[in-house]
Amino acid sequence: MKILVTGGAGFIGSHIVDALIGDGHKVVVIDDLSTGHKENVNSKATFHKMDIRDPALADLFAMEHFDLVNHQAARGNVRASLDDPMTYADVNVRGGINLLECCRKYKTKKIIYSSTGGCVYGELQYVPADEKHPIQPRDPYGASKASFELYLPVYEKNYGLKYTVFRYPNVYGPRQDPFGEAGVVSIFIGQMLRGIQAIINGDGEQLRDYVYVSDVVNANLLALVNGGGGAYNLGWGVGVSVNQIFENLKKMINYPLAEVHGPAKLGEVRRCYLDANNAHLELGWKPSVDLEEGLRRTLDFFSPLFADKHKK
Ligand SMILES: NC(=O)c1ccc[n+]([C@@H]2O[C@H](COP(=O)([O-])OP(=O)(O)OC[C@H]3O[C@@H](n4cnc5c(N)ncnc54)[C@H](O)[C@@H]3O)[C@@H](O)[C@H]2O)c1
Repeated sequence: MKILVTGGAGFIGSHIVDALIGDGHKVVVIDDLSTGHKENVNSKATFHKMDIRDPALADLFAMEHFDLVNHQAARGNVRASLDDPMTYADVNVRGGINLLECCRKYKTKKIIYSSTGGCVYGELQYVPADEKHPIQPRDPYGASKASFELYLPVYEKNYGLKYTVFRYPNVYGPRQDPFGEAGVVSIFIGQMLRGIQAIINGDGEQLRDYVYVSDVVNANLLALVNGGGGAYNLGWGVGVSVNQIFENLKKMINYPLAEVHGPAKLGEVRRCYLDANNAHLELGWKPSVDLEEGLRRTLDFFSPLFADKHKK
């Protein structure tokens, strides 16, 4: 297939690109490099530095005639979205509609969209949350991701554009930004390997569902042919605390400093873990890399990068 991956220079998108190329697909990547890095893009993919809001996106579709779009590009920082909700709506909703309009005009068959279980459901009324849980985001990022989901059935019903939505849990692994605002695993690894104090936000008892990136990639591969018209949670269905992540990494790294807590972050939910039974039943998806193995692989990736502790 000829596949467009938006956000293919980012953390999750770049792993999806690698897997698609490994499976023999022809891949084109667009990314504005706002948080992504050109070095992440597989050398066998064609790369265009482009914003998903750019009207010139239509020219790319006219030239390439994609079979499928995998839409990973987004502004993805909960805290930043509270400060700048307009940009979050502009990129995550209007940019997404620009993409859908191109799919419609150039007859793309399917779009796979990465939404967020962590943010569309808000504070969970029950755990693990299934897809029937009310959509009640608490921040503009979650509201923008949930809003774009609503356009997908519209384009399917009116124009026959097939779709699959994944609601990701907390995804972690190689290439996640260790200097970012989100992604506690890579942030702690970066701080611990540099020997600086890792700070736990709030009491650290926030519960999250940590899924290793290769498992998320597998779901995206399964959706190339399956999962028409559905929204699927991904996750283990088990909550792990930030304190537990800190403890596990502290042991693995032999980190000498004690845990220190900072203020809790505005808009952060207490618990988010997801029931992925539908993804299992309908797509045959199951996570396979457990937390210990996933942390080990992530650490193996970052260790050489932080071998010089003074490196930023
Ligand atoms: N990482 C997680 O735990 C997680 C959880 C839930 C959902 N998601 C979703 O998964 C997707 C990928 O997230 P990620 O963690 O890899 O983040 P990331 O920031 O590493 O990747 C996003 C990519 O999109 C690009 N981008 C941003 N705005 C763009 C624009 N206007 N035009 C073109 N490219 C643009 C960035 O440069 C970056 O390369 C996002 O849609 C995010 O909402 C991620």
